[in-house]
Amino acid sequence: MDHFHHRDGELWCEQVPLAALARTVGTPAYVYSAATVRDHVRRIREAFAALKPLVCYALKANGNLALLDIARQEGTGFDIVSQGELKRALAVKADPRKIVFSGVGKTDEEMAFALKTGILMFNVESEAEVDALEAVAQRLKKRAGVAIRVNPDVDPKTHRYISTGKKESKFGVDIERGTALARRVIASKHLVLKGVQCHIGSQITTAEPYAAAVKKTTALALALRREAKSLEWLDMGGGFGIYYKDESAPALSAYAEAVEPILRGTGLKLILEPGRVIVGNAGVLLTTVLFNKQGGEKRFVIVDAGMNDLIRPSLYGGWHRIWPVRGEAPPPLGVVPDFPQADIVGPVCESGDFLAQDRPLPPVKRGEVLAVMSAGAYGFTMASNYNDRRRPPEVLVEGDRFAVVRARETYRDLLRGERPKAKRVRLAGAASAARTAPGRRP
Ligand code: LLP
Repeated sequence: MDHFHHRDGELWCEQVPLAALARTVGTPAYVYSAATVRDHVRRIREAFAALKPLVCYALKANGNLALLDIARQEGTGFDIVSQGELKRALAVKADPRKIVFSGVGKTDEEMAFALKTGILMFNVESEAEVDALEAVAQRLKKRAGVAIRVNPDVDPKTHRYISTGKKESKFGVDIERGTALARRVIASKHLVLKGVQCHIGSQITTAEPYAAAVKKTTALALALRREAKSLEWLDMGGGFGIYYKDESAPALSAYAEAVEPILRGTGLKLILEPGRVIVGNAGVLLTTVLFNKQGGEKRFVIVDAGMNDLIRPSLYGGWHRIWPVRGEAPPPLGVVPDFPQADIVGPVCESGDFLAQDRPLPPVKRGEVLAVMSAGAYGFTMASNYNDRRRPPEVLVEGDRFAVVRARETYRDLLRGERPKAKRVRLAGAASAARTAPGRRP
């Protein structure tokens, strides 16, 4: 469900026509629908109502402050993976007691900052991380809330780059080692065992892997609760799939129905960490056709957005519907339109720079605007400045109003921090080290 629709021969976001918006803000540009974000948070709550979950929006999917603010207004907490993300959440006055900190490689500095902020818990992923967190907590004279992230060895049946719950993945501790690690947490004066967590992957379009993973993690949590009354959370991560092409992503209720019987009556409280399902279908990337070009037998449509703006097609073979914002509506998802195929490519100097390959597309003219659909998640957050391209602006639409909620980067932004003639200085303490370095001739 989203609030992008064709009406009167053009594509609208809520009550704003996108062709005119593109003329006003320029392209490439990300455009988000506020109503869609709100709807999605509400739908998650409705689907999981019986379990009254704490929804911690995974802001790596889209960290724009305007969207975080909407999520917070809708009552979400946040799942963060870095100090930068925590600062973003705090910038919209997020309640720290609704923040969980995920990730396999947290630094001491990040742990200390999060601990001082008073977050709910750290989802720890290794024995070494528990040691490091304990040392930081001891130094700060604080007690850190901990959930053990276990790897339940479940195949989520998604792209291998975004599959995280199989044994060979770098994430989580093997479920068999979870008990020992949890006991280590229970025994520490500086740590409090608050939960068990798993996250098996992203863009998961069936509910069964969740049932399998939650069954295993719940069994572990219940066993551990006998040793630690403080354990109250079962965090089942994120990963709910959305529609891009024809994947019939299940209704949210399907995921809920798969896990509800497992959790019902256990007394465990549920945390969800959804990212994509909240913002993915709430955003589009607008791009302008620069040139049409024939290369051998191939038709190329060269546009002003590239892999630096949206890397999903290049990195994961991600499929995004692309369609002119003016003219007839695209056929329903899953129906292949009857037009000559084209590769829709960007200006970046890489053969991997494409937004779509072999895609049936109506004839388009130079200057025409295309919408790359379902680009609200892992679009802007994965954008880069490769080829010295400025990252696009982000525009929020609310009803018949819009606002540029992040400005297009400037060329000055691109040069910030560079000092070609900076004075060269010797590293303190390095001079004598250089004299005694092995291999140095006397
Ligand atoms: N929790 C944890 C611990 C995660 O690692 C992730 C995503 C999420 C929650 C949110 O997952 P979601 O609900 O958005 O699927 N860049 C890739 C997706 C990477 C997902 C990384 N982790 C893509 O564009 O498909």
